[in-house]
Amino acid sequence: MKNPMEKRKGLSGTFALNKDEPIHRWYKYDEGYSSELILNEFKRLPIEVKSIFEPFAGSGTTPLVAAQLGIESFFTEINPFMAFITESKINTVREAHNKQGEVLEVFDNLKVSILESQNQNNKNMIINYNGFEKYFDESILQKVTIIKKCIDTIIDPISKNLAKVALSAIAIKISKMVKRGDLRYAKENEKKVEDADVLVYYFNKLDEIESDIIGYSQSIQASTHFIHPDARLANISKDVDCVITSPPYLNGTNYIRNTKLELKLLEFIESEKDLPLLHSNGIMAGINSVSKRRTIPQVFDEVKPYVNRLEEVSYDKRIPIMVGGYFYDMNKVFQKLKKIIRNDGVFILDIGDSQFAGIHIPTDKLLSKIANKNGFELYEEETLRTRRSKNQMILRQKILRFRLKK
Ligand SMILES: C[S@@+](CC[C@H](N)C(=O)[O-])C[C@H]1O[C@@H](n2cnc3c(N)ncnc32)[C@H](O)[C@@H]1O
Repeated sequence: MKNPMEKRKGLSGTFALNKDEPIHRWYKYDEGYSSELILNEFKRLPIEVKSIFEPFAGSGTTPLVAAQLGIESFFTEINPFMAFITESKINTVREAHNKQGEVLEVFDNLKVSILESQNQNNKNMIINYNGFEKYFDESILQKVTIIKKCIDTIIDPISKNLAKVALSAIAIKISKMVKRGDLRYAKENEKKVEDADVLVYYFNKLDEIESDIIGYSQSIQASTHFIHPDARLANISKDVDCVITSPPYLNGTNYIRNTKLELKLLEFIESEKDLPLLHSNGIMAGINSVSKRRTIPQVFDEVKPYVNRLEEVSYDKRIPIMVGGYFYDMNKVFQKLKKIIRNDGVFILDIGDSQFAGIHIPTDKLLSKIANKNGFELYEEETLRTRRSKNQMILRQKILRFRLKK
């Protein structure tokens, strides 16, 4: 049995604790970690930090905590929808602070216009979602279309962004899908009857955003800057003091496919055909991203033994390519971090290990070695939680803490 402290520490490595945190709670990103984890990391930093870079921003947990501490941040994120969420939760909220009255008025008008439109005869409404119709009941899609049309008429960009965040936040709940690790069709007992109450969910989300703007928008004391989608191509004109991040784990999570409903509803993609390209632009962390890049320019000596063993036993020949490619890509990121972080700056990495076909891949150790080649010296490591893989292997989520010596 775990004691409560250990349990809390384990939870802090997941998104779960953010569900009760103002602003962080707006969009649930299961692939993220908690604000508590990041706040604790900030507290124990051995240096004073005035600027921070987050190469894999996701839902923006690190930049948001930084902004609440008055620290300027820079970020990259390959998923355009997640980049939008990060910017909205920081920069849009900051701008909303001095325009609270206007935002609240727009939200009130939005609710009225949605209710009025919904009472009109919508029988002949033409709905074309380029193949996404199959993920929603028709009656729900009608309501979503009304919401989208009403959002389109909003002139104030701040209120419009926040109204879009609210729509994306309910996308999975009102669809035929569920997120259980990955996004998939729900089984019969996995949906509640009230999940069809699109307007109730949407209005509740608007109310949550409204109440956080009133109560917490003053907590955002610094801005964030989106510098590029791809962490491997990041450049910042000045050195930053610190990086706190969690890269894709080597476990095949398809961050793009998991947000396809949101990507479509907010019009970042046209159809599902756009998903593979977006996914293949990211770090190679799943076999699906192997198809476009079969040859890995360099497999590091530390990684070779694992690749060789995987070539012998893997059930899918893309697995060894993916493992070699993952560390190649992460090295590219570390090379950039070496340029971006100042001498003696700090690099905090949240990472989990993996297994394929019974072969344990010590991702933390291998990344440590590759980071070390780029000048990062490990000064501390801590296990956040352990879990068992399907074949009973113990896997760990760890925090690695480095100092950069240039
Ligand atoms: C583990 S998640 C980070 C979650 C984040 N810590 C949070 O709390 O929301 C990793 C993120 O890296 C992004 N990603 C993958 N490849 C990338 C790349 N080459 N450059 C920038 N971001 C990338 C994914 O889209 C995903 O959002």
